[in-house]
Amino acid sequence: MPGAGDGGKAPARWLGTGLLGLFLLPVTLSLEVSVGKATDIYAVNGTEILLPCTFSSCFGFEDLHFRWTYNSSDAFKILIEGTVKNEKSDPKVTLKDDDRITLVGSTKEKMNNISIVLRDLEFSDTGKYTCHVKNPKENNLQHHATIFLQVVDRLEEVDNTVTLIILAVVGGVIGLLILILLIKKLIIFILKKTREKKKECLVSSSGNDNTENGLPGSKAEEKPPSKV
Ligand SMILES: *[C@@H]1O[C@H](CO)[C@@H](O)[C@H](O)[C@H]1NC(C)=O
Ligand SMILES: *[C@@H]1O[C@H](CO)[C@@H](O)[C@H](O)[C@H]1NC(C)=O
Ligand SMILES: *[C@@H]1O[C@H](CO)[C@@H](O)[C@H](O)[C@H]1NC(C)=O
Repeated sequence: MPGAGDGGKAPARWLGTGLLGLFLLPVTLSLEVSVGKATDIYAVNGTEILLPCTFSSCFGFEDLHFRWTYNSSDAFKILIEGTVKNEKSDPKVTLKDDDRITLVGSTKEKMNNISIVLRDLEFSDTGKYTCHVKNPKENNLQHHATIFLQVVDRLEEVDNTVTLIILAVVGGVIGLLILILLIKKLIIFILKKTREKKKECLVSSSGNDNTENGLPGSKAEEKPPSKV
């Protein structure tokens, strides 16, 4: 029965496409954790730094677990841990390793923000900070995102210099383009002026001789004989 076979294949193909779509669009559907665009952060020792983290899920959440961990070449620790009951409540911290850490985010009003601030930074705070989230409402689906923090004694001006160089180059190129345009304009202007002058000379020299005649071009031709 070839008809039945085909009939069974078409829905399967649809299902396949649908599943592929789900894989291609996970951002808008299931649990996601984000630490923003800057995943490499520099901070000066003695200051404080915000380590951003937000999560989202289309399915909503219930008793969501979150956790910040620290990992460097020689240490691993859980910094802070807590739960969020639902969309209408703020996070409840159940464990905190360090007094210098404060949970600053809010999970009310769809902010879903579980950022932390780390105060009195020390050089030893350099390392990877990972924000983990687990959603029981989504079959305990987990997701995490990592920031690399580097504590320095002062912020280097390298970035600035690079920006300045880029700006200078861009500015230079734009300036050069403008200059080229100006030069082109100038050359065209000069060419036009010289041409006009030439024409003017012809016109004026011919005009001196016979003003009554209407056509200057033909006059120029006629001019030499009249002068002789
Ligand atoms: C930064 O670290 C150095 C060396 O440990 C220390 O002497 C200095 O006081 C620190 N700066 C601040 C602002 O804490
Ligand atoms: C910590 O990071 C190192 C690499 O820097 C990695 O090999 C190790 O598995 C990490 N540990 C944990 C618990 O994530
Ligand atoms: C999360 O909350 C902190 C503290 O209020 C704020 O500085 C940060 O901008 C928030 N992040 C986002 C993505 O809203």
